[in-house]
Amino acid sequence: MSKGPIVLAVDTPDLATAIEWVKATQDSVSVYKLGLEFFLTFGSDGVKAIKDVTDSEIFLDLKLHDIPHTVSGATKAVAHLSPKYLTVHASGGPAMIKAAVDAVPQTHITGVTILTSLSEDDVSLIGYRANALQSAVDLAVLATRAGARAIVCSPLEISAIRTAVGDQPIIITPGVRPSDSTHSDDQVRTMTPRAAIEAGASLVVIGRPITQSWSQGVHAMRDRAAEIAGDLI
Ligand code: C5P
Repeated sequence: MSKGPIVLAVDTPDLATAIEWVKATQDSVSVYKLGLEFFLTFGSDGVKAIKDVTDSEIFLDLKLHDIPHTVSGATKAVAHLSPKYLTVHASGGPAMIKAAVDAVPQTHITGVTILTSLSEDDVSLIGYRANALQSAVDLAVLATRAGARAIVCSPLEISAIRTAVGDQPIIITPGVRPSDSTHSDDQVRTMTPRAAIEAGASLVVIGRPITQSWSQGVHAMRDRAAEIAGDLI
């Protein structure tokens, strides 16, 4: 079975569980997303422990945002882990993004646009001139011009961003839910993984719709990942 365009969000505070999830799903999952909580808890050794059990890629979701010199140094500090993707906030500006790109040329510096946790009121309060959708498009254009090779955005922004940045940049979107997802959770305004890919996303970030099947055992989790991947290949 070939791997689907899935980024699995490895959101667990337990390293042994994280390793078991990766082992169970790696035939179907192209990329594993390790977030700030994971990195601050387990550090480089935790990332290496994940890399040791899979040939899939690593997405280090650190969402860096600081002056260019500091982001350059932080980026160099994780270069030895060879993450395929490393996130920075696009709102850090072109010089910051370029500093990250120059520091780790082999990594896809990935620009995070507007956090979907922000309401339109928040977006305005922060000081963006345009609404959330247009601001996300503007940030995606800014980030790719500065050298970012990937963009993170909400499903609702995919087609506008794809039109604005062209075919080349990798668009990665969380907030997707398979149509047969039965559980309710905190994700609102979702899209199915297939609809997101059809709208122009390159990769979809999926967490709980796969990881919750762990409670039914390793085979259930493997099957769930394979089922979702199969629908996307
Ligand atoms: O469990 P779920 O599929 O909702 O996981 C989605 C992952 O994507 C989580 O790691 C979450 O933090 C992340 N994310 C998100 N929405 C965003 C940005 C990131 O759900 N707008």
